[in-house]
Amino acid sequence: MPHQQTVTTVQLNHTAVYAEDRQLSAEFIATILGLEVGAPFGPFLPVDLGNGVTLDYYEMADEPIQSQHYAFQVPDDRFDAMIARLEAVGVTYYADPDHTEPGAINRLFGGRGAYFDDPAGHNMEIMTRPYARP
Ligand SMILES: [Fe+2]
Repeated sequence: MPHQQTVTTVQLNHTAVYAEDRQLSAEFIATILGLEVGAPFGPFLPVDLGNGVTLDYYEMADEPIQSQHYAFQVPDDRFDAMIARLEAVGVTYYADPDHTEPGAINRLFGGRGAYFDDPAGHNMEIMTRPYARP
């Protein structure tokens, strides 16, 4: 099991991502990003990311879901395919986090990026370069 190694630094391992329908939300992000949905683990439906972090989709059907922001750094050579898959499923992407520039991408920090909503209303971001902080 790749995630049973010990570490020497503090690392994010997993986080719960709330969804009205965990299957729908997990399959959505996996499809857009080109990842796999893992086997259910109790109430969680996992999507493993490339840096060892797991998004554990968790169903919360009876309460309103607070929109969160999740940002994924993605390989430059896979970015266009992700945008194409958003277009194919009819999900609008935006250049900005406030969703005022539909159908456009940004060029922040010398890379490319876009924002889009997942089925539960979480504000997802893909970017090829991380934010440069002063
Ligand atoms: Fe962000």
